[in-house]
Order: sequence, then C-alpha cells, then structure tokens
Amino acid sequence: MSITNDTQPQVIADGSLEGAFPSDFLWGAATASYQIEGAAQEDGRGPSIWDAFSRIPGKVYRGDTGDVADDHYHHVEEDVALMAKLGLDVYRFSIAWPRIFPQGTGVVNVKGLDFYDRLVDTLLSHGITPLVTLYHWDLPLVLQEQGGWLVRDTAHAFADYAEVVAQRLGDRVEWWTTHNEPWCTAYLGYGTGYHAPGLQDMQMAVTAGHNVLVSHGLAMPRIRAHMRPGAQVGITLNFTPAYAADDRPETLACVEQVDAFSNRWFADAIFRGSYPQGVFDYLRVSPPPIEDGDFELISAPIDFLGVNYYSRSLVRAGESTNGTAGTTPSIEYISPVPGATYTETGWEVYPDGLRLLLKRIHDDYAPRAILITENGAAFQDQWDGDGHIPDPQRTHYLHTHIQAVGQALGEGVPVRGYFVWSLLDNYEWSDGYSKRFGIVYIDYPTQRRIVKESGRWYASFLASQKGLAGL
Ligand code: GCO
Repeated sequence: MSITNDTQPQVIADGSLEGAFPSDFLWGAATASYQIEGAAQEDGRGPSIWDAFSRIPGKVYRGDTGDVADDHYHHVEEDVALMAKLGLDVYRFSIAWPRIFPQGTGVVNVKGLDFYDRLVDTLLSHGITPLVTLYHWDLPLVLQEQGGWLVRDTAHAFADYAEVVAQRLGDRVEWWTTHNEPWCTAYLGYGTGYHAPGLQDMQMAVTAGHNVLVSHGLAMPRIRAHMRPGAQVGITLNFTPAYAADDRPETLACVEQVDAFSNRWFADAIFRGSYPQGVFDYLRVSPPPIEDGDFELISAPIDFLGVNYYSRSLVRAGESTNGTAGTTPSIEYISPVPGATYTETGWEVYPDGLRLLLKRIHDDYAPRAILITENGAAFQDQWDGDGHIPDPQRTHYLHTHIQAVGQALGEGVPVRGYFVWSLLDNYEWSDGYSKRFGIVYIDYPTQRRIVKESGRWYASFLASQKGLAGL
C-alpha cells in the first residue's frame, strides 16, 4: 500500500506525551563517524571516499571536510558525560571502516578497534547502551579505487570487516545495524554524484545498491557468530513517504513509481526478496546483475528495522503527461506546499507522515521491531556566547514527531526506540557545517558544546518518562 490522500493525516499539536510510551522504550541520539570524529589521519586511520570527495572543488559547501569535525575522537569522555546528563538510554554511532582496515582489507589497525572499545566501555560505564552502525558511508578509499560498491569483492570485504568488529565488541554491544541508508550510498553516491564517490550513472546506482544489500546478507551471520545472547542485528533504511497532490489516475501512477524509488527499493529486497518493478522504470535502468542465492542472503530475517524519517514528498503527474497507458508520467514534486513549515534543509515538517509511515511499514513488511534510528531537523541556531540557545522550531519538531511515534505505538506498531538526529551539530555531508541538526550546539572554533533549548526539552522529557515509569 502506498500512502495517498485517502489516509487522512492528523494535525499533531504539542499535545501531552504522557503515558504514550512503555517504561522500556529506548530514548537516544545518533551520530556517525565521519560527521563527528575528526582525527582523520590519526592513529592509523586510512583515507575514506569522503576524505577524497570533500577535497574535490565544488562538491562540498565551502570545501568543508571531516578532518576535524566535532573532534569527538578527543572528546569521548566529555561527550558521553553529556549524553548521560541528557538522560539518554542508548547512543547510535558508526564505526569508521578505514580506522579498522586502513587499506579496506588485510592488516587490522588495532588502535582503531581500541578507540571504539574505549567508547563502548565509556558508554556502558554511564549506563548508556551502544547501537553500532557498521557502515555510514565512509568506505575505505582503496576499495573505491578497486571498484567500490560496483564490485562484489567489496561486499565480501565488508563481511570480513564486520566480523573483526563483532569479535572485538560483540561481548558488550546489543544492537547492530549493518548499513545506514543504502539508498543514499547507492543513489546519491553512484547515481547523482551528490555524495561520495561522486559517480553519476543510474545503472551503476542499482548495481551498487545490490552489492550493498549482498554485503548486508553476508555480514549478518558473521556478526551473529560473535554476538552476546539477546543481541539484535538489523539495517537502517531511510523513507520519504510519497503523497498524491490530486486524485488523477496519472498522479496515482506517479506516486506508485516515486514510492517504489523512495521507499520500496531496499525495503522490498530485505523483506520480500525482490525489487519493486517501479524503481527501474523510475530510474530508466535495467535490473542489476543478480546471482543465484543473492535474495536468500539479502532477505534473511533481521531482528529489527531502523527507520530514518525526516519528511514526505507531495507528487503529481506533470501537465505534459498525456496519460496514455504505458507512458512514463512526467513527475512533479510540489514544493513549497502552501501553508507548510520547512527546515533549513528545505524539508517539509510533516509529523503525521511518521505515524502513517510506521503503520505502513508494519502493515506491509511486519518487522519484528522498529527503532526510529534518525529523526530531527536543521534550523538556524544562533549562539550569542552565553549558555542559552533558543531553538523552539526544533523542540516543536521533536515534540510533534515523538507524539506521532506514540500514536503509532498506540495503534499497534512495535516501535522499541527513538534516536534524535543528532546529538551534536556535525558535518552535514555536501552541506558541510552549514546545517545544524544537533540538540547540542558545537562552537567549531573552540569545540565548546552548548546544550540547546531543544536538548534541555528532550532531557526533561526523558526524565519525565522515567518518572512516570516509576509511578
Ligand atoms: C541521513 C544520514 C545522516 C544525515 C541526516 C541529516 O539520513 O542522511 O543518516 O548522516 O546527516 O539524515 O541529513
């Protein structure tokens, strides 16, 4: 079922969140290695595709790189103490593959493993549960030079890397995801060139996407072999629900195609063991090379699905479409939507889209459990040097989207946790440091951390949840 206007969106105001969540619901925040760590050449880390891509003139805002970022590599204790002060139950972070295998394969960099080992122990010492993402886009550059995600060798290298990390951290890490947003890895990295490695070939994008999925399937048993009892493995997918702007048949056909491209491409592969036909029509490409057994690997059961949600799209068939059967409709994305609020990244604020998305995922794919692994917003944050950073729009965004999660829970969707994107302002990929998503402000020149008002709101909300749970 794709979402169209017949699913009446509810207006979610800043209502009460009381009693909407079970006492064991996991509240957290998320980051990613290249976006916060810095120390890009330290302790044996090898170069990643983002170290190279960010240095290509014109690719990233102001030529910003992740060389320093939030310098998290040297602020681990301070940042974990901040997470504890906020009252987080869980913290989602990613492992930089180039810290573990500087050449992508071969010799393990023990100092890289030591860093994450220390991070996990510091989290646990503060009572915070780690959730590890194994791939959040920072592919070792050497592997890209050998074909990157266009070649299956990379999928096998990923499984080897995953096992080495699981061998070191599997006794303490309960939550694992193989990949963050394979849609971005494939479409933005190989199709549009907006992300590293910067290739622009849609046929490559579907081949890369397929090899990423194969790597997920190859890695899962390798991780499970070293997991502590009760630990869980999943994958994080990003979703942008597509809505119909009118009820013309050609518009509904457009929504189906956009939905296949935006939402079903990877979800169908993981849960149904096949690709939706619409994605290849939308991209005007052929299916990727698929080997016998690939989809058995790819669709092996996962313990949970990570869902990243930011916004929706509103779609209609272009006027030039003559609506004859079989023609590919020209698709128009409507923006701005009259009366809608937008974030700094130009995304419509649409909280009920999260409730409806969760119901759709539950109805169509029935994952055992769902974690909202990313939800958040960039707005213009100003710091005038004191301890006060008002960001009411972000607080409203978080409040209404958390409310949407609570309503989905009440409608039977098995959501286990919610992670704000992001704990800290950080490197927003091609937007560099121009976009701030954190509930904690980073003053980059001094690397000072200042909790924003939204972070204070989130901390008080988490405290109230715990208080309620204790009643
Ligand atoms: C993503 C990535 C994050 C982004 C965040 C804001 O979902 O694109 O996981 O790394 O920074 O989503 O765009």
